[in-house]
Amino acid sequence: MELKEQILAYLSEIDGKTLSNSEEVEEFRIAWLGRKGILKDTMAAFKAAPNDQKRELGQLVNQLKNAAEGLVAKGAQGDEGGESTNEILNDWTRPDGGIPLGAHHPLSVVRREIIGILERMGFVVTEGPEIEDDWHVFSGLNFPEEHPARDMQDTFFVDRKPDMLLRTHTSSVQVREMERRDPPMRIMMPGRVFRNEAISARAHCMFHQIEGLYIDEGVSFADLKQTLLRFAQEFFGADTKIRLRPSYFPFTEPSAEVDVYWGLKTEVDKRITKGTGWLEILGCGMVDPAVLEASGIDSRKYSGFAFGMGVERIAMLKYQIGDLRAFFESDMRFLNQFQGEY
Ligand code: DAH
Repeated sequence: MELKEQILAYLSEIDGKTLSNSEEVEEFRIAWLGRKGILKDTMAAFKAAPNDQKRELGQLVNQLKNAAEGLVAKGAQGDEGGESTNEILNDWTRPDGGIPLGAHHPLSVVRREIIGILERMGFVVTEGPEIEDDWHVFSGLNFPEEHPARDMQDTFFVDRKPDMLLRTHTSSVQVREMERRDPPMRIMMPGRVFRNEAISARAHCMFHQIEGLYIDEGVSFADLKQTLLRFAQEFFGADTKIRLRPSYFPFTEPSAEVDVYWGLKTEVDKRITKGTGWLEILGCGMVDPAVLEASGIDSRKYSGFAFGMGVERIAMLKYQIGDLRAFFESDMRFLNQFQGEY
């Protein structure tokens, strides 16, 4: 066969060819472009051809080389099955491949559980705004102007509106509710809160609290203690121990912080309880009469208790999570561990 006809035959062979998987591509590459391949032979024949045919033959050889290389490149791209992504997506008869199921976020799971326990004790869910004024977050809760108590909570203020801020605690909703309705009231207030804090394994600029408030005639500190003990035993198990440590909050008197005893079974227990086995889960106290009065409630007739707990802390203890940041990073490897939790 003349060299020219030979090349034309090769060209039409490549033209009709499809390579359906990577093995075929590799086979083709060796046969056509390899060191002892068809293209090498063709080049040798081309060199031996008469000079006056070189121009025309040269072009054909180039064409052949491009066609062979093009096929290898295309075959390697389309890869398995040789179908392009588009062809697969355009096939409306294809099976759907299943829809991946999500999981409840651990904070939602814990929040739901806490709300469920408090609901069974007669507390009703109420909500308030995340962007609040100074009165509801501080002044109405007995934080005096210029008093260092305000420094307990690093606040994000709204630009050019110094009176508006992101609430630093859900206690702000207590004030709204006491202004809005008359006792008796037994309410809980879940929500997001914000603090201008450096983010670390133990602190974040945004987290969640659940606030409780009970106001009626004759509410005592004993009622508060029993409510919290009951709550802890429902949540952590029937033999859970709690302890109350005297503390200070501007809006309660007396005030206390509540720790639950979790023990020191694991490394994470040690880390999050700072080696004591006790973990603080909430602040509480008897609502200061000045706070009741500021919201228009007669403090000679009514008394009440309040508490506020951190959802993240409780979730960390329950699920043995050593780093607070895990809750907010949306890492699927973390979140998928909660499949089936409700
Ligand atoms: N608001 C407090 C905080 O964010 C927690 C708290 C303490 C809430 C005592 C209360 C309470 O209702 O009585 O640190």
